[in-house]
Amino acid sequence: MESLNIPNHVGVIVDGNGRWARERGLSRSEGHKAGADNMEKLFTYMINKGVKVISAYVFSTENFKRSEEEVNYLMNMIVHRFKWFLKKYSKENIKIVFSGRRDNLRADVIKVIDDLAERTKNNTKGIINFCLNYGSHAEIIDATKKIYEDANKGIIDINNLNEDLYSKYLYQDLPPIDLLIRTSGENRISNFMLWQNSYAEFYFPRTYFPDFDESAFDQAIIEYNKRDRRFGGINYENKGN
Ligand code: IPE
Ligand code: IPE
Ligand code: MG
Repeated sequence: MESLNIPNHVGVIVDGNGRWARERGLSRSEGHKAGADNMEKLFTYMINKGVKVISAYVFSTENFKRSEEEVNYLMNMIVHRFKWFLKKYSKENIKIVFSGRRDNLRADVIKVIDDLAERTKNNTKGIINFCLNYGSHAEIIDATKKIYEDANKGIIDINNLNEDLYSKYLYQDLPPIDLLIRTSGENRISNFMLWQNSYAEFYFPRTYFPDFDESAFDQAIIEYNKRDRRFGGINYENKGN
């Protein structure tokens, strides 16, 4: 059998935790816990399969619109899990980075994300980019402001601004997303990595995130391998679809 092409950078919009819980008569918090448990297993599996970079949308700038109780639960869970990730990802040789605005985040959240990034910065097996208090519009505005400042200081020449240089001003300088997965059946990207997704293949399974397991990811890879990525060119390939 022909071997499957594994996407280099996979974006994951973790969605459907609340509906998963509601269907089971559980609280939204229990849905978030089930989603987080699944995420730990799934991401290690994805990297073992050969994915080099995962960008995970775990909390958007807009998610602050939710109840104080839900936001607090999510932030407490992030602090708790990320402390455990210090051990987990050091052992698994996975580097952790963050994308998002730091203002509005609690001091204990900032501390744990900084510790995790520092402690895993030399790891080489793969990268997980946690997008936390992340919004793509905010990222593009923040990048543009930094470019303006650097141009004014003479650090860069604005005439040399191109896609590569612009990318370096985003929260993280990562390769483009090849495959974007959003669980739960919503067909939208909700302000997630507009720049990085420009040529991504979109995959929108109906499964709620807590149920999106290893075999569901294998299915996503099979689907990805049926796509004909042309990047504006005309190199048709017979993918049987
Ligand atoms: C995703 O699940 C987790 C976050 C956005 C933090 P949701 O909480 O959005 O779940 P639904 O969409 O209400 O089912
Ligand atoms: C997107 O999910 C944000 C995250 C998964 C972190 P939402 O559940 O917040 O998105 P909408 O409101 O359905 O667009
Ligand atoms: Mg949702």
